[in-house]
Amino acid sequence: MAIKTVGVLGCGLMGSGIAQVCAAAGYTTVVREVDDIALARGVGRIKKFLDDGVAKGKVEVAAREQTLGNLSGTTNFDALKDCDLIIEAIIENLDDKRQTYGSLEKIVKPSTIFVSNTSSLCITELAATSSRPDRFGGLHFFNPVPLMKLVEVIRALTTSDETYQAVFSFAQSLGKEPITAPDRPGFIVNRLLVPYLLDAIRAYENGLGTLEDIDQGMKLGCGYPMGPFTLLDFVGLDTTYYIANIMFEEFREPAYAPPPLLKRMVLAGRHGRKSGQGFYKY
Ligand code: CAA
Repeated sequence: MAIKTVGVLGCGLMGSGIAQVCAAAGYTTVVREVDDIALARGVGRIKKFLDDGVAKGKVEVAAREQTLGNLSGTTNFDALKDCDLIIEAIIENLDDKRQTYGSLEKIVKPSTIFVSNTSSLCITELAATSSRPDRFGGLHFFNPVPLMKLVEVIRALTTSDETYQAVFSFAQSLGKEPITAPDRPGFIVNRLLVPYLLDAIRAYENGLGTLEDIDQGMKLGCGYPMGPFTLLDFVGLDTTYYIANIMFEEFREPAYAPPPLLKRMVLAGRHGRKSGQGFYKY
């Protein structure tokens, strides 16, 4: 299964990062968004990241040009028909994903592998909504995608050995260090990270300390790059709330139950950095 051409569905925060690393690794990469405005915003984010990289001396000018040369954007499905691998990073909604897979399956080759970057939905369920459950898996990237080394590779109950190997090798070819995670809510990282973040909110609500002191404590005391509230704002409170609910629904353990404050902040539109306010103001 030689992967040469990669399609990325969605050019949001995750999709743009994924498209960037695929193009940077030399794959012909086609990224699809629903309309021109969303596409321009996503491609603009990639260009800015590369430009910043050049300014910081981390990216060679030639590498930036090569990456952009390998990348094209589209709002059509037809432009993805020659893709050997499709990475889906659209909205976390089962119906939208099902519809998108359906549209693509009419035009791609039978051998094309589909993977989802979902952080919360069941990979086996997604695979079952497609007509290629054996050529379907999970490839979960971390934000910011170009900087984070980890990718979780998830096998659905139906993923073939051949597909799993191809996806794992593909992740390595991006310069990432993949791990194999089970198809359970949160996979490996969020299964451990989300209860920690929820616990930090509960502790704060119970008066453990100020936001700044808790953040500073975990940053300087444990060497974490960001304290829990900075990280919550970075990941998005809405995203964390959504993942926590799915984990709680599946496991029914209090550790995964979203604290009342998180729910209210989401209801108030305080989603973190992206909305200008979360635990901190931006
Ligand atoms: N191009 C290339 N390199 C760049 C760059 C760019 N545009 N911008 C920054 N870099 C490099 C920097 O030069 C620096 O390199 P060195 O370490 O060699 O000096 C490195 O990347 C780090 O960048 P900065 O120094 O600018 O920033 P930082 O040290 O504050 O790190 C961070 C930023 C990587 C985001 C760090 O804060 C971090 O790791 N935070 C935690 C992020 C995290 O936990 N993400 C996972 C969230 S959970 C998730 O995503 C999954 C989910 O399902 C919700």
